[in-house]
Amino acid sequence: MQKKRVFLTRTLHNFALNELKKKYQIEIHSGEIPIPKTKLLKKIQNVEGLICFPYDKIDKEMIDAAKNLKVISTFSVGYDHIDTQYAIKKKIRVGYTPEVLTDATADLAFSLILDILRRVSEGDRTIREGKWRQIYGAYDYVGIDLQGKTLGILGLGRIGSTLAKRAKAFDMKIIYHNRKSISKNKEKSLGVKYVTLDKLITQSDIISIHVPHTKETDQLFDMKIFRKMRKTAYLINTARGKIINEKDLAVALKKKIIAGAALDVYENEPIGKKHPLTKIQNIVLVPHIGSSTKETRAKMAKITIKNLELGINGKKPIYSVGY
Ligand code: DGY
Repeated sequence: MQKKRVFLTRTLHNFALNELKKKYQIEIHSGEIPIPKTKLLKKIQNVEGLICFPYDKIDKEMIDAAKNLKVISTFSVGYDHIDTQYAIKKKIRVGYTPEVLTDATADLAFSLILDILRRVSEGDRTIREGKWRQIYGAYDYVGIDLQGKTLGILGLGRIGSTLAKRAKAFDMKIIYHNRKSISKNKEKSLGVKYVTLDKLITQSDIISIHVPHTKETDQLFDMKIFRKMRKTAYLINTARGKIINEKDLAVALKKKIIAGAALDVYENEPIGKKHPLTKIQNIVLVPHIGSSTKETRAKMAKITIKNLELGINGKKPIYSVGY
């Protein structure tokens, strides 16, 4: 019997590729990342399985071209790059990788909070650029204490709740906003308080974003919101770049409408050194590394191939969007 065909928009861990090769005829895109749309449109026509990444746009046109496709398995927790409703309508399973990356992403969000408040990256730049002149002066390189500050978590799901545990250990006050509040018991054990979105915006010293990118959250953080935030507040984003209007953020940071920001994700990735945000001091920028630890990425690869295997055989992936 002929092996089913699987296309990967870029390579994965060797152990995962070896597993895949045992069962499937696989092809891996090499060269330009993300894979050009025209190439993916061609490749997707002939395969039963697709392994993709957050920057591969799997829209209606792509799904219509995928005449034989049984499963889309994305190496990510986010699936806003996939038209999941249309895929489901076309009876294509969609697998993703939540849970295993919760700790890693919450750790990164917390490290960004520490970094921007204690000016770690800025200090590193100061030394590398040969600008360290003042030593230990009363006002030199002063940062902000975390203890007693209010952390506002937008989206208290898996990652948001895990961030809350980190923040509790640092004696921070924690408020959150979700579409629906969590149970009182859970609120008590996490030490969090539900507030409206408006209160989260106006009362937080630090806001950390943990909601998916949807029509409702697209460009949610714009100048109107920045003007409502405290002048001393910081914004952290490890969710999706398109939730923030970057042009407005650049102005808000330059004009000190808010105190600072730390970002892992951007409206269009990758960003280069000419991007306006790179010209600003009170911001920390990292290259979409939320889930990027050795252990987590290996776990994600395991789930990605398991999801693929289940979906390609008409079964529900371990983590499945829809059915
Ligand atoms: C994902 O997997 O969607 C996240 O962007 C991890 O950083």
